[in-house]
Amino acid sequence: MGTDEAQIEIKPSDNGFAATVTGVRVSEPLSEESVDTLLDAWARHGVLVFPDQTLDIEGLEVFTLALGEFGHDPFVAAMADHPNVLELRREPDEKAGNFGAGWHSDWSFQPCPPSGTILHSKVIPPVGGDTLYADGHRAWEALSSTMQSMLEGLRAIHSAALPYGPKGIFAKDTEVRTMKILISEEAEATETHPLVRTHPVTGRKSLYVSPVYTVAIEGLEPAENYTILKFLYDHMTRDEFVYRHRWQPDMLVMWDNRSTSHFAQGGYDGHLRVLHRTTLAGDRPR
Ligand code: SIN
Repeated sequence: MGTDEAQIEIKPSDNGFAATVTGVRVSEPLSEESVDTLLDAWARHGVLVFPDQTLDIEGLEVFTLALGEFGHDPFVAAMADHPNVLELRREPDEKAGNFGAGWHSDWSFQPCPPSGTILHSKVIPPVGGDTLYADGHRAWEALSSTMQSMLEGLRAIHSAALPYGPKGIFAKDTEVRTMKILISEEAEATETHPLVRTHPVTGRKSLYVSPVYTVAIEGLEPAENYTILKFLYDHMTRDEFVYRHRWQPDMLVMWDNRSTSHFAQGGYDGHLRVLHRTTLAGDRPR
């Protein structure tokens, strides 16, 4: 039995950023209309939350492929026999920092970064472990028109060196980490993208920079870069642009990397946290 799009209910948050989806079982086949409904809601709300979804790894793969093609996930070893699924796992006794603990849009250093990421929760700690999502659209729309004209047309340089390079954060790990991070010189490659990105579905603009992957804005001096990027990071992550996601086991969340950035909070030392993650292939940002 599949899901009929007439059964799908999308309940947006008060400000329209993030929505809860019910009336669909992600483990069952989706009609074409249901897929269109979900893709449309995802583009409009940035983050979709599906509570109470039991799903095995094969089911997560099938659901991802119903929405698009797999993205390419570098620098983190995939699950055995599941080359497109990452297990985000942190053991109760693990001391290494939690994965994803810095604002970023997934793999923005790629020429065509993933349009979206899908995360399914298996084991959720009783405290901490929230994921924060920032709405790049509203951050852009809240800027003055003078600031918007200064930023529009600029290009930002992205690289994976800070987390994944040989001199990066993971290379300096002194504590044991369960997730296998693949440190590589390839992480030092750079890619430029528009600092202001236009969403291919909605046509809305958003800020597309992050402290984890943006190295600089093309053509600016270091002091100018520091000041403008710091302003943008502080602005993008203001409370009014952020949705805090509190996990329950068996929740599926899919977010739009074209318009949002996210941050995985820690605060659950002593507890196990396990989620499974896939990415959806995307286009070159414009
Ligand atoms: C990530 O995908 O960046 C991590 C998200 C999380 O663990 O909450």
